[in-house]
Amino acid sequence: MRTRPLKVALLGCGVVGSEVARIMTTHADDLAARIGAPVELAGVAVRRPDKVREGIPAELITTDATALVKRGDIDVVVEVIGGVEPARTLITTAFEHGVSVVSANKALLAQDGANLYASADQHGQDLYYEAAVAGAIPLIRPLRESLAGDKINRVMGIVNGTTNFILDKMDTSGAGYSEALDEATALGYAEADPTADVEGFDAAAKAAILAGIAFHTRVRLDDVYREGMTEVTAADFASAKRMGCTIKLLAICERSADGESVTARVHPAMIPLSHPLASVREAYNAVFVEAEAAGRLMFYGPGAGGAPTASAVLGDLVAVCRNKLNEATGPGESAYTQLPVSPMGEVVTRYHISLDVADKPGVLAQVATVFAEHGVSIDTVRQQGRPDGGGEASLVVVTHRAPDAALSGTVEALRKLDTVRGVASIMRVEGE
Ligand code: HSE
Repeated sequence: MRTRPLKVALLGCGVVGSEVARIMTTHADDLAARIGAPVELAGVAVRRPDKVREGIPAELITTDATALVKRGDIDVVVEVIGGVEPARTLITTAFEHGVSVVSANKALLAQDGANLYASADQHGQDLYYEAAVAGAIPLIRPLRESLAGDKINRVMGIVNGTTNFILDKMDTSGAGYSEALDEATALGYAEADPTADVEGFDAAAKAAILAGIAFHTRVRLDDVYREGMTEVTAADFASAKRMGCTIKLLAICERSADGESVTARVHPAMIPLSHPLASVREAYNAVFVEAEAAGRLMFYGPGAGGAPTASAVLGDLVAVCRNKLNEATGPGESAYTQLPVSPMGEVVTRYHISLDVADKPGVLAQVATVFAEHGVSIDTVRQQGRPDGGGEASLVVVTHRAPDAALSGTVEALRKLDTVRGVASIMRVEGE
């Protein structure tokens, strides 16, 4: 074994960074044996140097991340700061100084992955980011390496634990969104400002990363259609149950039927209880991959948290250190297919639509005509009169598969009918 250690600069020492440092210290001998050289924590860049950090010698702490990256003796930077800047500049500085990078930064990779890959490639360095999507779950490496010989057609997953916790609470307890969010906040699953999670931004960044790798093309955050889950109601869950479904916030990346384009989207959707993703409870993540030769694969586990995310970071660190010793690099960007990303309107899916309608002759025919005019075929219709009368009824229509543009055009036209008093809910149905 080589005795000269590989030196690691840790950028960020929060929930994930402190776990990375702890595992590097406590498992130093095992890591050295697996890598073939000792791996040394050579510096830790933080914003608040006065904070007590157990197990990290004070002399390693610095507030000058740039100087640490440029120091000249660093082999690998582990970036767990998050956000676009200063992470982007620090990572490209690392590459320019012959330093490989392990990052957990989904926002940066989804926004600027192509430039980061190009910089890594130009300087002969590695860029690994297993921790950026679905925490501890091995997913990036299986897609980039294990399935590199297969053709992936679909990646559908629950990639945000906070929202899965909230939806699971709503499902099991009948709670409304606000009540379930309050519980998620009290238990530490949801942040004080939950926008990134509940509005689907976090999941959309992960979808962009997954789609790019799965289809060997470039998919940026802006290419991902996004709807949050704040409008999901207890009534939606009741409707889902009647259909033998539950509701999940899904990230769905698909190759089109003709194989000429791809789509990436995040939105709440009903999925059948028989689908493997329906049984993903609490804050767990799971990703369902459909590949031509492999068939259907499911990856499941904790998608967030200090130790689980650190596990993914450490796996990357071992791989990058091994590459350094072999004077090699791992896989870079694979975007050779250059498949375009189609807009949401071209996605083919099903809708579950709940309408409040006038309960009088001809209304059902009128509603059905609107669907027909937009080329949308109806699968099932259920009408229920209101116990309190009032001349109104609830009409639930489930469609067959149709382009999303046709489905939303249908809803728009339905809203204009005098006999349609309101559209109570619209939910896509997936996973059948
Ligand atoms: N906030 C994310 C989640 C974890 O709830 O899954 C980090 O991506």
